[in-house]
Amino acid sequence: MKHLLSTAGLPRATAVGLLDTAERMSEVEHREIKKLPVLRGRTVVNLFFEDSTRTRISFEAAAKRLSADVINFAARGSSVSKGESLKDTAQTLEAMGADAVVIRHASSGAAEQLARSGWIDAGVVNAGDGTHEHPTQALLDAFTLRRHRAAVAGTDPAGTDLAGMRVAIVGDVLHSRVARSNLWLLTTLGADVTLVAPPTLVPVGAGGWPARISYDLDEVLDGGVDAVMMLRVQAERMQAAFFPTAREYARRWGFDAARLAALDRAGAAGARAAAAETIIMHPGPMNRGLEIAAEAADSPRSTVLAQVRNGVSVRMAVLYHLLAGGPDDPSTGSAADAHLERTP
Ligand code: NCD
Repeated sequence: MKHLLSTAGLPRATAVGLLDTAERMSEVEHREIKKLPVLRGRTVVNLFFEDSTRTRISFEAAAKRLSADVINFAARGSSVSKGESLKDTAQTLEAMGADAVVIRHASSGAAEQLARSGWIDAGVVNAGDGTHEHPTQALLDAFTLRRHRAAVAGTDPAGTDLAGMRVAIVGDVLHSRVARSNLWLLTTLGADVTLVAPPTLVPVGAGGWPARISYDLDEVLDGGVDAVMMLRVQAERMQAAFFPTAREYARRWGFDAARLAALDRAGAAGARAAAAETIIMHPGPMNRGLEIAAEAADSPRSTVLAQVRNGVSVRMAVLYHLLAGGPDDPSTGSAADAHLERTP
């Protein structure tokens, strides 16, 4: 694997290989010294043209746990604000020795352009491009779902698939790269996805996507789901009014305290398939009180912090596969295991 640009078209075997490597990588978290020597002498550049807290820190932690050198580049305060182009910026960074570039950009297609332009030789990881894709977020969400399913079934995550798992992706689908990347990846992995949103926040063309579309969150929850993935309302990408008021949005589309209580009641009564085990996901940053109530975000069903933790393992796996070989390359796939075994 040379780049990771999208989950659309990502082969199932590659995705599963990444998730399995991420399981191995997560073992490092429990060690006294949270470091593997596998990317020693390699340089990972975080090239962030859009604000980010957790994604940038997560890539940084992942690269450092693999012993790579990390250069963080934020567009604000750089020559980009003086009008330097993506091409010049990327070439400058490569001249400084970047082996991989992790890019976040407000324009859909920016990561692909960087990878395909021939401007640089480094591997490119898309850390979010406009409303298009955010593949590592989808991988960490799939990792979280797989662990959840394995925990419920008492099986090993590495041997567990997502076939038939029911996932509702709820809210601002229109502006969400997280929704798109998850839809493609979860479908590839066999999960059954329902998009739930106000009609104004369903993209034109979504009728052709491999998902059911619903405008009624309660109906979907009543039908029974294994996970609800709440999306952030992306106010910064909204030039118009997409819903009447924040209060109305929270009441109809938010995972509020009343919906949490209903789910807990159904779970306790065994009334609804999966209700006892339904998890509530959110990629962060959360608008508490809008798409998710504090009660839900802080409830035992919430996987918000597990997602953050899993993000580091998944990004370690991605950087490892990009820079040291991976599932497309069986000879290096086992090298990961050898490294993990040799390193205390
Ligand atoms: C997501 C993003 O930036 O697309 N956040 C993240 O990566 N943790 C989702 C969002 O901002 O709503």
